[in-house]
Amino acid sequence: MLKNDLFLRALKGESVERPPVWMMRQAGRYLPEFRAIREKYDFFTRCRMPEIAAEITVQPIDIVGSDAAILFSDILVVPQAMNIEVLMKEDVGPWLPNPIRSAADVDQVIIPNIDETLGYVMEAIKITKEMLDNRVPLIGFAGSPWTIFCYAVQGQGSKNFDKAKAFCFTQPIAAHTLLQKITDTTIAYLKAKVKVGVDAVQIFDSWGGMLSPADYQEFSWKYINQIVEALADETEVIVFGKGCWFALGDMAQSRAKALGVDWTCSPKNARLFAGNDITLQGNFDPSRLLSPIPTIKKMVHEMIDEFGKDKLVVNLGHGILPNIPVDHAKAFIEAVKEYK
Ligand code: CP3
Repeated sequence: MLKNDLFLRALKGESVERPPVWMMRQAGRYLPEFRAIREKYDFFTRCRMPEIAAEITVQPIDIVGSDAAILFSDILVVPQAMNIEVLMKEDVGPWLPNPIRSAADVDQVIIPNIDETLGYVMEAIKITKEMLDNRVPLIGFAGSPWTIFCYAVQGQGSKNFDKAKAFCFTQPIAAHTLLQKITDTTIAYLKAKVKVGVDAVQIFDSWGGMLSPADYQEFSWKYINQIVEALADETEVIVFGKGCWFALGDMAQSRAKALGVDWTCSPKNARLFAGNDITLQGNFDPSRLLSPIPTIKKMVHEMIDEFGKDKLVVNLGHGILPNIPVDHAKAFIEAVKEYK
């Protein structure tokens, strides 16, 4: 039995004493303990060493006191398993030496056997569960098919993912074939995570906001919804689409249990678009953690008041930034725990 099940209760829409809180990218560079491990092993090596991944996952539970853990890994281990080379370059971020640019390239992409290619993630989950000892639930995650596609085609991060969009609009058949391969792989991957014990899964559509509302339906939501449908009977699914406020209404009609909201959409508007039945997750501006601690606490309480304390998972509107002082991250979590 979980000692702290606030997060799961909020996902089910139950009334809670106070909302649960965790932070996207909470296992990361703002923690000195994370940076110490980072000096010893490169990024994907850390992901592939289950003991190390588990240790990093548990750090924010011990240090800042989040109500849920999220497995340390990366959305880009999925394209790696699909026969797409992905490197992490210092100061550049993800780097794909051979981006997908043609139907022939799409043919080379495989739908892998998950245990053979991503077994190390399942090992990390098992070790993490032991280390957590039922203190808090564990979240597993994957990138949305569109967000993975963005990296696979663009070859690196981008301000507008112009090459990824060009591929969709000039070679739609090949684009849809690739999106479907990513979707099928992601469903098998998340099912495997649920089988070894994650308590919920989050789909990160970090670049969904690059698309117009109509294109979002065709190139992103259609595939995310397949994943939601495939997982809904087995676990709680959270969908976070950055910049996707326009899709909250459709998302709320799906079988997702919660919807992530970024800080550019007010809590009031998020509720208006999503309706009152579904749990929302968000949406503190990550840069606002640079404000003085009393300001952070005041703003967190105002945010909870605006969302309402029920059907809410407090989070940032995107990942925590590396330059946030650890005390400020702690103050964010404490503010939620102090909410009355
Ligand atoms: O939330 C957590 O703490 C769990 C770990 C996690 C990481 N990446 C670790 C990571 C999660 C959930 C992700 C998801 C991820 N990865 C996303 C979706 C969420 C989002 O932020 O939009 C995306 C787009 C990626 C791809 C990715 N990985 C980028 C663009 C980068 C480089 C930019 C950056 O933030 O450094 C990464 C590297 C990465 N993934 C780091 C971490 C802790 C930093 C690597 C390092 O230690 O140098």
